[in-house]
Amino acid sequence: MKIYVCENYDRMSEVAANYVAAQITLKPNSILGLATGSTPEGLYRQLVEKYNKKEIDFNDIISFNLDEYLDLPKEDVNSYYTFMHENLFNHVNIKEENINIPEGNVDDIESYAMKYDNKIDSSGGIDLQVLGIGNNAHIGFNEPSDTFSRYTEVVNLTPETIEANARFFDNEDDVPKKAISMGIGTIMKSKKIVLIASGEEKAQAVNDMINGRIDPKVPASILQLHEDVLVVLDEAAAKKIDKKLYKKI
Ligand code: GLP
Repeated sequence: MKIYVCENYDRMSEVAANYVAAQITLKPNSILGLATGSTPEGLYRQLVEKYNKKEIDFNDIISFNLDEYLDLPKEDVNSYYTFMHENLFNHVNIKEENINIPEGNVDDIESYAMKYDNKIDSSGGIDLQVLGIGNNAHIGFNEPSDTFSRYTEVVNLTPETIEANARFFDNEDDVPKKAISMGIGTIMKSKKIVLIASGEEKAQAVNDMINGRIDPKVPASILQLHEDVLVVLDEAAAKKIDKKLYKKI
């Protein structure tokens, strides 16, 4: 794991955006894995800026999102479909047919989930996966568990995640209790991963991910086994890790 620590959220977003932009420049038909949540909003803003300045082009980019809530209409203001369109896709020239976001409202969701993984594989696999991290060290919506999930599947959200995500909804009862998420196995197959985290509430999860033992109770800890992970943190999220482990950037 390579770890960079930045002064603040904006710098973290800039460093991560430069990394994603470099991937797009070097391989214009990259397969990108994309994340939602508050953390990547700045990264997406910066990618849109780079696109507007003609520094990057999304014409040949294919994207696969990590996850989506179950039983929330696609057009709902809180769906990840809406989030991705509002934050990135509506502002760049990615082709609609190249956008893949798991659907939370399909009849046979198990076979749909299997097809999602197959589609990633048959597209050539994810070149660069963007990840955030939950307060409980979840990645995608892979919650702490007794085993690492291998494939995309339906997951039950923990009370902690429901509470953390309630800030986007009118009240906590409106937060869906289930989601569809790429599996940890799906994520680990990505050729490169960039994980971003900001704020003190992520400091414990970040420390457990980097320094803890590899344990499905800390889903992000499995990233220690991936050979190409860049972790970009702001100072608050890096609070619990030893300065010797990271580069200040
Ligand atoms: C969400 C998403 C994750 C995200 C995490 C942290 O629920 N499913 O992909 O990384 O929780 O979100 P945030 O960036 O808002 O703290």
